[in-house]
Amino acid sequence: MIYLDNAATSFPKPEACFRRGLEDYLALGASPGRGGYDAAARSQARVREVRERVADFFGASGCVTCFGHNATDALNTLVLGLARPGSHVVSTRLEHNSVLRPLHHLRQTGACELDLVPFGPDGLVGSEMVAQALRPHTCLVVMTHASNVLGTVQPVEAVGRLCRERGIPLVLDISQSAGVVPIRMRDWGASALAFTGHKGLLGPTGVGGLVMEPGLEVLPSRFGGTGLDSLSLTHNLDLPERLEAGTLNLLGILTLGHCLDYLQGPLALELAQKEMELHGRLLEGLAALPGVTVDCPGSGPGRLPLVSCNLEGWDPSEAGMVLDGDYSIAVRAGLHCAPLAHQDLGHGAKGSLRVSLGRYNTQAHVDAFLRAAGAMLRGQ
Ligand SMILES: Cc1ncc(COP(=O)(O)O)c(C=O)c1O
Repeated sequence: MIYLDNAATSFPKPEACFRRGLEDYLALGASPGRGGYDAAARSQARVREVRERVADFFGASGCVTCFGHNATDALNTLVLGLARPGSHVVSTRLEHNSVLRPLHHLRQTGACELDLVPFGPDGLVGSEMVAQALRPHTCLVVMTHASNVLGTVQPVEAVGRLCRERGIPLVLDISQSAGVVPIRMRDWGASALAFTGHKGLLGPTGVGGLVMEPGLEVLPSRFGGTGLDSLSLTHNLDLPERLEAGTLNLLGILTLGHCLDYLQGPLALELAQKEMELHGRLLEGLAALPGVTVDCPGSGPGRLPLVSCNLEGWDPSEAGMVLDGDYSIAVRAGLHCAPLAHQDLGHGAKGSLRVSLGRYNTQAHVDAFLRAAGAMLRGQ
């Protein structure tokens, strides 16, 4: 199989990191923070190390990392915990359903008003558009750092400045950008980030979380055991436990820690450079094929290595099936969980073909896709 769906989940994985994570897990054994004995304390200390590692990796030293299942989980925690009743939230039409659905739920139940800022023909959300959407009772701005449909990286620094001036927390969904482009939470003025472990961070599914400024008032929306203050029926409000009800995914957290080390090593950085070059090759190859429409084309530092396109005469889902069945090429076909982006791009209900590169793709993979697309367009 030629795997070109790294925006869904990265594949293959850095095997050595997974092996080290498993070895640590089998050696540690005890559940972090659940027991006064030495092994539980060691486990807890390792998790604390990874928390700090995550915050440093995202330019958020000194901030709090709370682990959860994935970005969806973290975004739910942040949106539900920061939106105050009777207030107003600003987001964008580029968002993934993991942002849109919790916000839609709040609007439907009358808890909050919502404005969704459009993106321009370049696939970017201008900070001036965000400024126009703000109201006196806006309590939260939440937006994707990089679009999973277009690969455009948003000018979040300008939005961060704006939010700081108005005292409004800015939450960034870094699901697609984490591990692919540098994240500088503090420099950008963001109050919190939601990340997922299994995409650009190269880790396993089932682990992700949020990084937040320690003073951010995120109210818990889930309650349960935290290993602290067990006599009380009131959920513990200390951080990170406040936002981590239940036993943590220790295996996932340990493995993610090794993946972060790997991502900062020379090999991963070299592969990232190659990935950018392949992205350019993919775009050039598609531009040379008659009958291909690429949404907001562009490559370079402001872009993720992914392309959303349509082949003339092909329904994207059918094209995806032929690429899989006849050419053993895996791409994402159809809708990519960002319904308003598809609507604004004129994709209707059919969506697009999304080709997303990863650290381990080669020129041969890109060329095989281009040859297959060319043959399909010629009706061969
Ligand atoms: C932009 C964006 N946000 C959020 C998510 C949700 O990630 P997860 O399913 O790991 O929670 C995705 C996954 O595709 C995404 O692309």
